[in-house]
Formats: sequence, C-alpha cells, structure tokens
Amino acid sequence: MVKATSESSLSESRPNAPTVYLETFGCQMNELDSELVEGHLTALGYRFTKRVGDADIVLYNTCSVREQAENKALSRVGQIGIRKREGHRIVLGVIGCMAEREGTAMIRKYPQIDLLCGPGELDKLPMLLDNVLRTGASTDADRAIDRIALQGSNARRTGTLQAAEDSLEMLDLSRAFDPDRAEAGGRSAYVRITRGCNKFCTYCVVPHTRGPEVHRTPDAIVEECRMLADRGVIEITLLGQTVNHYLYTHGSALTIEGREAPQVGPGLKAFRQSAAASSLGARTTTFADLLHRIHEEVPAVQRLRFVTSYPRDFTDDALRVMAESPRICNYLHVPAQSGSDRILKLMNRGYTRAEYLEFIDRARSFMPDVSIAGDIIVGFPTETEEDFELTRSLLRAVPFKNNFIFKYSPRPGTVAIDRFEDDVPDEVKRRRNNELLALQAEISADVHAR
Ligand code: SAH
Ligand code: SF4
Ligand code: F3S
Repeated sequence: MVKATSESSLSESRPNAPTVYLETFGCQMNELDSELVEGHLTALGYRFTKRVGDADIVLYNTCSVREQAENKALSRVGQIGIRKREGHRIVLGVIGCMAEREGTAMIRKYPQIDLLCGPGELDKLPMLLDNVLRTGASTDADRAIDRIALQGSNARRTGTLQAAEDSLEMLDLSRAFDPDRAEAGGRSAYVRITRGCNKFCTYCVVPHTRGPEVHRTPDAIVEECRMLADRGVIEITLLGQTVNHYLYTHGSALTIEGREAPQVGPGLKAFRQSAAASSLGARTTTFADLLHRIHEEVPAVQRLRFVTSYPRDFTDDALRVMAESPRICNYLHVPAQSGSDRILKLMNRGYTRAEYLEFIDRARSFMPDVSIAGDIIVGFPTETEEDFELTRSLLRAVPFKNNFIFKYSPRPGTVAIDRFEDDVPDEVKRRRNNELLALQAEISADVHAR
C-alpha cells in the first residue's frame, strides 16, 4: 500500500479532495501504468471519476506507437483546451509515451497542458500534481520545470545507474489493487517483468519512450503475483516488450541495503552471449525458471500468460515449462511483422521468415494445441507486391488465431523515418491492410472451427 508522503498537501481526511479523470491509450503496459497511477493517487486522497465533466484533474495516459494513437489523445487535449478557454478550471496532465516523445515542445504547442510525465517517471506524478495545485496553472512553458518529469535523452546513457536506484520499482511494488474492482469481474491483472526495450526495430518508438530494457527481480515478481492471488486474482498476464528475453543474473545488481535490484538487460546481440555465460556458473533466473517459479509458488493463479514474445531466443526450456504446467496457457503472442526477409531486415527484426516458421513448428511440437497470435505491419517503406505476397503466404502457413494488422506509420526519432522514405501510398497500405484482415478472418474462422 502506498503511504501518503509528508510533503503531500492532501490526505484521506480532506473533504474536497480533487477528482481525477484518467483515460488510457495504447498497450497493456499503459493500462498497467494507469492502474498503478490510480492506486497511488487514491492512496494519497485523490478521488476518481468516470465522467470527464466532473473532474478537476484530467490525465491522458498516451501512446506514440502510431500517429493515429497520438491524434486521438491530441483531439482530447484540444477539447480540454476549449473548456479551459471557456473558463472551466481544469488541471490537464499528459502522461505516458507521448509526453516522453514530444517533451516540453508539447506544452509550447498546447499551452492548456499543465503537466507532463513520461512513463519512466510516473512515481513523480503526485509531486507534479501537487506543484500545479499549489502554484496554479502556468502558461509559461520555460518556467514549467516543476511540472515536467521526463527521462529525456539521458535515459540510455545513465541506464545502469537508473536501474540500480529504480524508484519506479516502488510503484510496481506498491500497487494498491482495488478489491471492489476484483469483485466487479476484474479478477485478472498484469504484472510487469521487464520495462523498456533494447531491440530498436527501425520503425518503433518504444525504446525511445520507455528507455532501456530493465529486468525486475524474480522475487519481486513472484511476490507481486502472490499478493494479487491473495486478493482474489486468478488470471495473470506477465508483461514485457520481448518477454522471453527475461534473464536475471543474481548477485550483479544490489541496492544499498544489499537487496537485489532491477537490472539492465542485454541487447539483442548480447542476449545469447549472456545466456551462454549464465551456463558457465553465474546464477541466473531465465524466463523458463521464472514461469516455473510462479506456477509452482503461486498455484492460486489459475491462468498464467505472457506478452509479447519475440520470435528469436525462445528456449526449449521455456516451451517445455509451458507444455508441462497445467496453469500456464498454451498461448503465444509472437508478432512476425512481415513475411519478407528483405523487409524484416530493413525493420531490424533480427530473424528471417524461415526462423520464424521454425519457431512456430518447435512451439507446436511441444504444444500441439498452442494458440498463436501476432502483429503485422503493412506498407513498410519499399514494400512491394512480392513482399506483401510473402506476408500473405506467411499468414496461410501459420494457424494464427488472430493478427493485429497495422499500416506503417513513420515515427519521429526512429531510424526508419530518417533512413527510408514512406513511399507506399496510403491507398496501397489501406488495400493491403484490408486484404490481410479478410485473409485473417478466414484463417481465424478455420482455427476456431478446428
Ligand atoms: N514489443 C512488441 C511490440 C510492441 S508495439 C514486439 O516487438 O512485438 C505493438 C505493435 O505495434 C508492434 O508489434 C507493431 O506491429 C506495431 N507498430 C510498432 N511501431 C509501428 C509503426 N511505426 N507503424 C505501424 N505499426 C507499428
Ligand atoms: Fe518496438 Fe521492436 Fe522493441 Fe517490440 S521489440 S517494442 S517492436 S523495438
Ligand atoms: Fe504505445 Fe508506449 Fe505502449 S508507445 S504501445 S503506450 S509502450
């Protein structure tokens, strides 16, 4: 449970506690972040409302993964701007990936925004809110330092240090799961096992907005699962951008008190070397070990699953644990992104079509009934009809239960936007998108029938 900090000017006893409206865009990481933010602020005396019109504070937890996701949040920001100009007193906070990606420029462009908080700084949100509430809204972006918390471009250089003193870890550890919500059918929960990403697929903002890949300690993860199970949660989804790359080397990162601390994960190339080193003596907890531990130590969790898997480096050990553990779902969300080796290479995905298919075969040899889901991007720069045909044939080759299909969206700050022209016309992207949706619908119906 989060303790109210002494510097906070709010407390449970305060009758006119500000009312917060929080809306979430984007992925499960963001949904979890919003839940943690709500728990943290509730413990500090804030109240939450489902109606934006009733709120003193409006928070948008934003996503930057595609332009469309940003536009949705921006239209909400615009609406609040109108209400503020009409004289309504509202504190507007933009949190999450878009705050991190846009930075202070965002407050200059949209002066109705009172605070910005990146996904790596959410533990500081109560302090930022407190600052805004105490000093009132300011429109001077240059003097808004006390209401902005972003990792900025330093995030990667100081990654190691940051992981060691990871204050964000406290936010995950302190989650105030709401028993009322559990009663209302919310008997499932997310548990983060890694934060950030080191893969740098050329189209993707996530490594830029969420920072380096940090692996939480196995004890903290198991403890969190146990705590949730004690509160009635029966279904847990473990979260990580490339969740099967989870690897914790014991004894290498300690807190000042000598406890184990979260640690920065190896990059794509280093992963295999690091996994090899672990077989030479260092005590490690692999992804397979972690799944096994949660399954054995928290049997009250009846369904354990995880997203998102990366098609490379999924060990037989992990597949075996899945196959042999009755409470681990035989489900893999393992995005292929494309069926063309040429495009996969430009995407810097680090595997070929053949390697992807080999992984699917291997997974099915351990679990003949495994459900497979994925993501596909159509219209990546230079994608030809031949490349697209290879993606279609990949879909036909794998019994996908479903696929999320996205049109390529150039993202500022990524390698792809700098290096490749967005040369596939939108109508072509749309057609390819529709064709894949139709094909996937057939495949899904087929898989379902079987
Ligand atoms: N870590 C996960 C994906 C996280 S982002 C993985 O590597 O599989 C979720 C999905 O958004 C991606 O799988 C990808 O299909 C899509 N995506 C990411 N960036 C995109 C972009 N710039 N344009 C279109 N789709 C994108
Ligand atoms: Fe983005 Fe690639 Fe990391 Fe997934 S693995 S979050 S697509 S950079
Ligand atoms: Fe979006 Fe950030 Fe998730 S960019 S997909 S909210 S990690």
